[in-house]
Amino acid sequence: MSGYSSERRINIRDLAGMKGSRPIVSLTAYSAPMARTLDRHTDMILVGDSLGMVVYGMETTVGVTLDMMVAHGAAVVRATSRACVIVDLPFGTYQESPEAAFRAAARVMAETGCSGVKLEGGVEMAETVRFLSQRGIPVLGHIGLMPQSVNAAGGFGVQGKTDDGARRIRADASAIADAGAFAIVIENTVEALASSLTQELKVPTIGIGASPACDGQILVTEDIVGLGGDFMPRFAKRFAELGTALDSAVSEYAEAVRERSFPAAEHCFIPPAKGAGAKPRLAAVSPQAKGQRGA
Ligand code: KIV
Repeated sequence: MSGYSSERRINIRDLAGMKGSRPIVSLTAYSAPMARTLDRHTDMILVGDSLGMVVYGMETTVGVTLDMMVAHGAAVVRATSRACVIVDLPFGTYQESPEAAFRAAARVMAETGCSGVKLEGGVEMAETVRFLSQRGIPVLGHIGLMPQSVNAAGGFGVQGKTDDGARRIRADASAIADAGAFAIVIENTVEALASSLTQELKVPTIGIGASPACDGQILVTEDIVGLGGDFMPRFAKRFAELGTALDSAVSEYAEAVRERSFPAAEHCFIPPAKGAGAKPRLAAVSPQAKGQRGA
């Protein structure tokens, strides 16, 4: 295990305590296998609504539903034991009113077992953040670039470049921090602004395309391992090329099937010879595969 060692699940208090002491390491996960790996190395796992684009091939996150978030959120929580798991509230489930937001968030918390929810928005969402926080639902804020507002914002550009833009982001940050957000994601925002917000706010900031000075960093896991397709945000960095490894594994499998070298005898169920009295032989099945797939 790397990083913070913890016998129990990291909670939002632990994350708050990391501000000023050590960086919060965070990544996204949407599935149990990915979450299992991340759990050993991260402090916080976000089940982001980016899953709409990464897993479901959507153009934006706007079409993601609460059912999707619940299903993927539950898979990630089941597969983890130490990282703090936060689940995104998707577009349309929280903007209408604090009460609607509470119903959506309560369902996500109850059906996934996650430790909190994330929602996008600043000044206009402060009342909702307060409503949820005061009723036992920890809220991770999200300001700067807010992908759910892509249709209104007209794109995914860098935020806070003008004086007016910077003023708005500053107001957004303090509004949701004052309303009780336990931490705030700052996305695709001018570095100096993200850095000064980190100094000014009492709650941790988690940067994505923001600043190395933020209290933590988050990226979409598929982007850092080469599984995110051709598009790569400028702020992400590839730490592995799993897309290439996957391509060659699948290509080798296809070739082996076509030339009939797979399956080989050790992959087949071969009944014992008559009168041998031995149990049927099932070769090359690992205990893990037996347990997981009932082989
Ligand atoms: O949906 C998402 O994955 C996110 C993060 C990348 C911050 O909001």
